[in-house]
Amino acid sequence: MAFSYMPGFGNDFETETLPGSLPQGRNSPQRPAYGLYAEQLSGSPFTAPRGTNERSWLYRIRPSVKHTGRFKAVSYPLWKTAPNVGDHELALGQYRWNPVPMPKEPTDFIAGMRSITTAGDVLGQTGMAAHVYVANRSMGDDHFFNADGELLIVPQVGALRFVTEMGVIELRPGEIAVLPRGLVFKVELVDKEVRGYVCENYGAKLTLPDRGPIGANCLANPRDFKTPCAWFEEKETPCRLTVKWCGNFHVTEIGHSPLDVVAWHGNYAPYKYDLATFSPVGALLFDHPDPSIFTVLTAPSGEEGTANIDFVIFPPRWLVAEDTFRPPWYHRNIMSEFMGLIHGQYDAKEEGFVPGGISLHNLMLAHGPDAPGFEKASKVELKPVRLDNTMAFMFETRFPQMLTRYGAELETRQDNYIDCWADLKKRFNGTLEGDWS
Ligand SMILES: [Fe+2]
Repeated sequence: MAFSYMPGFGNDFETETLPGSLPQGRNSPQRPAYGLYAEQLSGSPFTAPRGTNERSWLYRIRPSVKHTGRFKAVSYPLWKTAPNVGDHELALGQYRWNPVPMPKEPTDFIAGMRSITTAGDVLGQTGMAAHVYVANRSMGDDHFFNADGELLIVPQVGALRFVTEMGVIELRPGEIAVLPRGLVFKVELVDKEVRGYVCENYGAKLTLPDRGPIGANCLANPRDFKTPCAWFEEKETPCRLTVKWCGNFHVTEIGHSPLDVVAWHGNYAPYKYDLATFSPVGALLFDHPDPSIFTVLTAPSGEEGTANIDFVIFPPRWLVAEDTFRPPWYHRNIMSEFMGLIHGQYDAKEEGFVPGGISLHNLMLAHGPDAPGFEKASKVELKPVRLDNTMAFMFETRFPQMLTRYGAELETRQDNYIDCWADLKKRFNGTLEGDWS
């Protein structure tokens, strides 16, 4: 079955599956068509300024109060929530991992969530968590919503399908999806095994960055974001709904599917985006802009220019700068950086950072190209080069990222990561030329 989408970012969308199911000219008619219930889903306080005010009207077979009964506590011990400080004994450091192993037991998307870092405080609705999901089975009649934040999903292995109450998003590696806080969904696997990264955003919603002097075009263009058209099922069989709420999980049994929205309109909705449509902008003559030039989405923190989260990619592109060390420079940063590699090779690391891997460079910890990468980039003839077969990304936050016990003890953590800088030689010898032997 092919699912359809509507283009645009943050549009006031409208969509109906049955003719006349979406009320026109009003939100809450006395008797909605088809005997549907009208329900508002708010993504912002009622009185948020117009530019950040988000809500949708859902016309559904049953109101959401019928999609929950009595809750009981349930445990997902590997899905952690900030604050989660002092979870392990590992000393401070720059860390890198090979891919999180695929599960051997049957595991769905929720049970397969492995938190690597948390930052900020979910109770203050600020900060984020970085997770890896691994799964080998669909959720069946299990459904989920996250009251703690929106979910940014970055598949790395395998295609999946997010069947949400507002429509269906099919997603494969190279694309990303964002599911707003509170949205009910389940995940079906298209491929046998899937793995990917998730950024759980406790704070203000992800939005497009301002482009400043770049102007009206390039980077992520609004028309390339796709929001699903309405889709519903009328299923009168036992189902479950699990809720993540302030770091804890609760499950409730219901006698029908909660995915029963026949029509909806509004600007609070899930969306997907193909990273191949990102139009990168960079240095045309010499030097290096900051990596913020590659920001796809940003979640503001309330302090201007200081993101709760930046989602940044390092896509295929031409490198043309003259008399320039072209890979990322060495740096220390007040922001903390969680990186993943979707496919190919990242240009600051010659080896060791593999697809599905992770690196973590935390608040003020130095990092940069490995020794072979530095050597190569310092001596290479600077012809125009097309950087191909690469798609790395970063979840960057203003908050320090607290490593979880799972991340600290994961057998794929490379204990020798910092050795990648061991062979950086002293080049200073008092001469103007330096020692480049
Ligand atoms: Fe960095």
